[in-house]
Amino acid sequence: MSETSSLQNNPIRSFVRRSGRITASQQHAIDTMWSEFVLETKQPYDLNAIFGRNAPKHLEIGFGMGDALVEMAQAHPENDYLGMEVYLAGVGRVLAQIESLGLKNIRVICDDAVEVLKNNVSPASFDTVYIFFPDPWHKTKHNKRRLIQPEFVNLLSSRMAGHLFLATDWEDYAHQMLEVLDNTPLLKNHSGTGNYAPRCEARPLTKFEKRGQRLGHGVWDLHYQLEAI
Ligand SMILES: C[S@@+](CC[C@H](N)C(=O)[O-])C[C@H]1O[C@@H](n2cnc3c(N)ncnc32)[C@H](O)[C@@H]1O
Repeated sequence: MSETSSLQNNPIRSFVRRSGRITASQQHAIDTMWSEFVLETKQPYDLNAIFGRNAPKHLEIGFGMGDALVEMAQAHPENDYLGMEVYLAGVGRVLAQIESLGLKNIRVICDDAVEVLKNNVSPASFDTVYIFFPDPWHKTKHNKRRLIQPEFVNLLSSRMAGHLFLATDWEDYAHQMLEVLDNTPLLKNHSGTGNYAPRCEARPLTKFEKRGQRLGHGVWDLHYQLEAI
């Protein structure tokens, strides 16, 4: 078997599928809301048809428990928000929030963002993309599982029409992000090559980050935009 075909058969994933406990309210939301708010990954998406309007489209990759996704969608009813996450409990939590807050402008995909971007998303689909605190895979032997790698960023930038915001609390990963993104042909560093960005205003301050701030831990934000805009 060639190296390429073995990679295709057994790709290096940026996640492990955590089972995690699903609460009763998450399970209820999964049972009742799934067909309306979770997109299947069978065909290319027509996002305007899915959201039923032509509004700016925002994507969050790896939304975890969905705090940022829900808060951004609630604060900006004028935008549509698509979240991609493999963690079922997180998807259940977002569905429960969609129900309790009556949100109309969120849809989620419970699948590998890399595959979905490759197979189901057309070029220039998203006005803004957010990747907050992607798994740092901090052991050197696991670094290859980090999401922010040249191949993925080239794919992502081809699906964007505007801005990309990232944040990490892992300094070594922040350096890697800067290096990879500064060298991505379609992207321009909004803060100038080699520079981190001010804190992304859209990013809600989580309990985790507040604790980190108290302990003096760093967070590195990055902001890129398409060269062409
Ligand atoms: C460290 S958590 C951060 C979650 C959230 N963004 C936050 O700030 O709390 C990273 C998340 O990305 C998800 N993830 C990693 N790779 C992914 C992929 N290829 N597609 C979808 N989700 C992914 C993981 O399941 C995990 O929930």
